[in-house]
Formats: sequence, C-alpha cells, structure tokens
Amino acid sequence: MLENTQIFLKNLSCFSVEKKIETRKNDVFLLKTSKTGEKEKFIVYKKYSQLDKMPREIEMLYLLKGKGVAVPQIYDTGKNFILMEYLEGPLFIDFFCWQENTCGPVGSSLKGPAYQAIYSLCSWFSAFYAVSREVAGRQLIMGDVNFRNFIIREKIYGINLEECRDGKIEEDIGSLCAFALTYLPSYTSWKISMAGEMFRILSSELDLDKELLKQEIQKELLAISVRRKTIHEMMKFQVFDLLEKSIYFA
Ligand SMILES: Nc1ncnc2c1ncn2[C@@H]1O[C@H](COP(=O)(O)OP(=O)(O)O)[C@@H](O)[C@H]1O
Ligand SMILES: [Mg+2]
Repeated sequence: MLENTQIFLKNLSCFSVEKKIETRKNDVFLLKTSKTGEKEKFIVYKKYSQLDKMPREIEMLYLLKGKGVAVPQIYDTGKNFILMEYLEGPLFIDFFCWQENTCGPVGSSLKGPAYQAIYSLCSWFSAFYAVSREVAGRQLIMGDVNFRNFIIREKIYGINLEECRDGKIEEDIGSLCAFALTYLPSYTSWKISMAGEMFRILSSELDLDKELLKQEIQKELLAISVRRKTIHEMMKFQVFDLLEKSIYFA
C-alpha cells in the first residue's frame, strides 16, 4: 500500500497530472500514464480534506463494487488518498442543465433522455439501498446527493460516498428533488416538472412515504435558501404551496 503522496508520486512516475478536477471539499486530480508506445490510461487521485471520512468511503466503494453496484473501482489507497478508476462521462449536473437548455427557456416538457436519466438514477439508488441494507443490516443513505456525485455512462454511476450514514431514504430523495428545483436558475417550469417527475417515479419505485418525502424536500429547500440567503426567492415562488397543491407532488 502506498503510504503518502510523495511515495505515491515516486512510484507512479509514469503518471502525469492531466488536470485538477473541480471539487467541493477534496483535492481530485485526473492522472494520465505517459509510457511510450502504450495506449494512454487515466486514473483518478482523490486526496481527502477530512481524513475521518476516508475509511467510510473506501469501505462503501469496496462493498458496493463487490455486489455489482455502479461505483468506481479502487486501485489503491494511501494515508490520505485513494486511486480509483476514471469514469469518463458527463456529470449528472451537466446533463441536467443541458436537458433544460434543449427544452428552451420556458419549456416545461421533459424529453425522453430526462426520463431515462430519472429511471437510471432510480436503479442506482435501488441497488445502493438494497446492498447497503444487506451488508450493514440497517438502512444506510448516501447523505450527499448533489448532482456532481453522479456520472452518466451506459447507466448512472454514483461517486462520493463519504457522507454515507444511517438514515431514511426519504432524506436522500427529498434532497435530490430540492436540488433539482434550486440549481440556477431556480424554480423554472422545466425544473418544477423534472423535480415533480423525480418525486413521482422515485417515490413509487422505492416505495416511499410521500408526506415524509415532502417534509424532507421542504427541509432541504430551507437549508439551501439559508445557505444562499435566498429565503425571499422561496417566498416569491410560493414553494411550500407548490409542494402542497401542485399536481406534480401529489
Ligand atoms: N472515479 C471518478 N471518475 C471520474 N470523475 C471523478 C471520479 N471521482 C471523482 N470525480 C470527479 O471529481 C469531482 C469531485 O469528487 P468527489 O469525490 O465528489 O469530491 P468532493 O466531494 O470534494 O467534490 C466529481 O464531481 C467528479 O467530477
Ligand atoms: Mg462530490
């Protein structure tokens, strides 16, 4: 096992840093092999800013991969970093913004790819919850479902399992719907239909308590608006009314 970043760099001198990836907390780099005569290979180097989160993520990645859930494979681990499979493909956030743009600024109708993505997300969560329940003997949730934590390939892959914890599935899916409503520009008609379809499909496929799910959406919307200091925006869009009265969240 590699012990620290310096030894890592020495041992992997055949790798060069291709780019630093945009992150929220940790340092993540895309590395490329530079051996002459060989097809170039990429791997991901993730250095943890909070070391206490690392064992949980490593454990989850090994367990989930072993049970066939779509997550990156770990190649090696060090004192404060992991090396893992590079999953090439757009982040779910980029796909989401692109889908909204293809529907036009005021368009609210979802196209086929948006539905495919919701069902693919649903399959990923379903597998994740089943396996985590089986191995932990209790319900674990992902804990951080921001749209940069999913990569779209032939199916959706989940990355970033540092925040996995005991919890109710409605907490994850409530946050997912709240994020769908509030990526900028927030509360567009397209986002309301997308969040509504996520609510409808995921609550039915994962057999969720819809009232609890609505409470979790409200909780996350409040947390987001406190973080961004945009409570007035929530009021303007009468978001809680939307959750109570709209056909999308029935
Ligand atoms: N295995 C991977 N394959 C491809 N890209 C990855 C991989 N792991 C992480 N990334 C990229 O790095 C970003 C940050 O990784 P993540 O584990 O979510 O850390 P953080 O929580 O600090 O943002 C992701 O949003 C994604 O763009
Ligand atoms: Mg992340």
